[in-house]
Order: sequence, then C-alpha cells, then structure tokens
Amino acid sequence: MSNDTSYDTVLGKLAVELGLCTEDELKNSFKEQLARSGVNPVVLPNVMVDLGYLTSSQVDRLKSKIKETRGVPEQIPGYHIIGKLGKGAMAVVYKAKQISLDRIVAIKILPKRFTENPEYVTRFYKEGKAAAKLNHNNIVQAIDVGEAGGYHYFVMEYVEGKSIYDDLAAGKVFSEQEALDIVIQVAKALEHAHNNGLIHRDVKPKNIMINKEGVVKLADMGLARETSDIEAAKNEAGRAYGTPYYISPEQIRGEIDIDGRADIYGLGATFYHMVTGRVPFVADDPSDVMRKHLREELVPPDHINTSLSNGVSEVIEVMMAKRREERYNNAEELLADLNAVRAGQLPLQAHDKFDVSMLEKLEDGGEVQKMPESIDIEQEKALTNYRIVILMLSLVAAASIIGLIILTIKSCSA
Ligand SMILES: Nc1ncnc2c1ncn2[C@@H]1O[C@H](COP(=O)(O)OP(=O)(O)OP(=O)(O)O)[C@@H](O)[C@H]1O
Ligand SMILES: [Mg+2]
Repeated sequence: MSNDTSYDTVLGKLAVELGLCTEDELKNSFKEQLARSGVNPVVLPNVMVDLGYLTSSQVDRLKSKIKETRGVPEQIPGYHIIGKLGKGAMAVVYKAKQISLDRIVAIKILPKRFTENPEYVTRFYKEGKAAAKLNHNNIVQAIDVGEAGGYHYFVMEYVEGKSIYDDLAAGKVFSEQEALDIVIQVAKALEHAHNNGLIHRDVKPKNIMINKEGVVKLADMGLARETSDIEAAKNEAGRAYGTPYYISPEQIRGEIDIDGRADIYGLGATFYHMVTGRVPFVADDPSDVMRKHLREELVPPDHINTSLSNGVSEVIEVMMAKRREERYNNAEELLADLNAVRAGQLPLQAHDKFDVSMLEKLEDGGEVQKMPESIDIEQEKALTNYRIVILMLSLVAAASIIGLIILTIKSCSA
C-alpha cells in the first residue's frame, strides 16, 4: 500500500511536470482518492481519469515513462541513483552517488540498440578508458565505463551548472570577450585531449558546460559516436538526432581519418553562434544544413554583428574553413590567435593560413581575388595635408594673376 502511494506521487508529479494536468488538479485528485479510500480504495491514475484530468492513454504513457527511468539504473552496482539530470538525443543522464567514494557523479546510460553493434561497444570501452586517463580542469572527468543488465553506461564528474546551449536558447548573444574566455578554455581542453590521442567529434553548445565557479567543462569527451549517426540524421530529419549545426564537412562526408581539426570546426561553429546569436548555416532540413556546411560560403560573423573585431571574425572563419588544410593545424595554433585577439593584437596564425591558402589556389591555377592593399593611416593623413597645401598655393597664384591682369588693364586705360 505504501508502495502504491509513492508510485502515485511519482506519477502525479510527472503528470504535472509534463503539463498534462495542473498542480490544483493533482491536489483535487489526492483529496478525491482519500475520500474514496474508506469504501472503495482506488489508485490515483484511475481517480484522475474519472475526474477527466487525464486520459487512459496518457496514464499508460506515464507508466511506461516511469518504468523506463526506474528499471534501468537500479541495476548499476556501486552506484545509488538519485534522480534524472536530463535526456539527450541518444541517452539519459542520471545523478548518482558513487557509494565507495561517497561522491556525487553523473551517469549516462546508452539505449539498448547500441549493444547490438559490437564494433560500437568495443569503441565505447576503448575511448571511455582513454578518456578516464585524461585529467584536465576543462574536461568533464570520465570516471568509469561498464555494462549492467544489458545497458552500457558511462560514469563522469557531476557538473552543477548550465550549458552554453541553455544561454543560447534563452536568446543570449555573448560579448566578444566573454565568448573568448569560454572558447579559450574549450581550446585548452581540446589541446590536452588531442595531445593524448583523443578527438571529441561532437563539440557543440550542449556539450560545453559552465560550473558554479564559472569554470568551463567540455562534456562527453571519450563518448564514442556511432558512425551511422550521420546517415540516421540525414534520414530522420532531425527528429531523433539533433540537427547538425556544428558538424565538420569531413564528418558529413563520412571520412574515417577524422583528426583534431574536426573539433576545431565544431568549436568555430559554436563560437559563431555565441557571438552572432545565429547558427552558421540555417535550413529547415538537416540534410540542407549539411549541404551548406559542405558548399555554402560562410557569412563572416562581423557582417552579422558589426561590433565584432576584425580579428575575432578572422579567427572564426579560419576555424570554420571547409578544407581542414585551411584551418588551424592544431589547438596550440588556435590558442595563440585566441590569446592574441583577447589582448587586442592581430591573429597572426590566421594571417599565415590566409596567405598559404591563397598560394595554394594560385598553384591550382585558380583565380585569387587580390586583397586591397592595406592603407597606412599616417601616409593617408600626410597625403591629405599635401593636397590642402597645393590647393592653397594654387588659389594664391590664381589671385595674384587676376590682380596683375587688373593692374595691367588699369594702367593701360590710364
Ligand atoms: N556531467 C554532467 N553533469 C551534470 N549534468 C549533465 C552531465 N552530462 C550531461 N548532463 C545533463 O544531461 C543532459 C543530457 O546530456 P546528453 O549528453 O545525453 O545530451 P545533450 O548533450 O544535451 O544533447 P545531445 O544528445 O543532442 O548531444 C544535458 O543536457 C545536461 O543537462
Ligand atoms: Mg552531451
């Protein structure tokens, strides 16, 4: 009976949480249940259906939702599940206590369909172990990987805070300095991971969290992605998989030899979104977004947000070059430019990249538009002064000539 009561409470709360009924309707239902308990005891969902607050199919859905979240985690040995933290496109994340160390952790549980692909499972363990070896203040620490009751799970550091996605979804446009501070921390996380042979493959606002102290934490490092994700995204029109706003062209093409430059692209697209308030390529359909990543020219960020410095815009454009050869070669190069721009200096690495790509295009026989010569402001000022002096001298000369002519005419007539 007490079990029934707690189950009713969970179901009732979930119904309110999902907006199926109001808080008051739930209270009413509990009252009604109590009233009936003497003569004809009845479970809460039945009362709610009787009162017309829920339909029976809504009750069925609520029950299966509860089953889904209850059944799975109880089977993970060594951890005590406290509650659900969130749900992404492919997994559910729970808050839990690691019993041995008496600390709070986050556990990501993968759906069973992942188990059906042995290749994926092997990669999941391999990358999970590699990630657990990383140790960096800007990376959500991977703690453990395992399998229980047919589910594979990934245990990680619990981050109390929010993600960049939360801010963007609320309509925030980051200032250049604020965005630089965040992007620099992610670039440091990538530098550490790449130097240890790990590529993230899914750098995006949802995977960049900020904890209560303001420290940036890159999440899901080492969480192997399914290679078929891209195909699935193309087919499912964004229903089951997030629309690929931040994915690199080489990942879209399904190339196998992905390297750190794919993460630099993902971070560049995230940076773009942060400072312009827009994703780099917009379309209704995921395949159109992907086509644009492959072919459409990027609108420079400073054309959208004119308050951005030239330098930051250039850095983002190099990060998001379609050909990875034209991007920063690695996170170190990127960090050099990010730090330079933050200090108000020029992004020299980006300039080098630009020169090299011009040369390559020339070698390819392609036409290269010549950049306007940079104008030296001091030279320009001197030229203007010179023009003014010449003009004044000409005026004086003209006045003297006119004066002379008048004098001549006067003396002739006299
Ligand atoms: N280490 C963590 N600490 C605290 N909360 C977390 C942690 N990792 C994930 N979460 C929460 O769980 C939610 C689901 O995470 P998950 O990685 O499954 O999906 P996502 O990154 O939000 O989106 P997608 O599935 O589209 O990649 C996140 O939005 C976040 O709120
Ligand atoms: Mg995530």
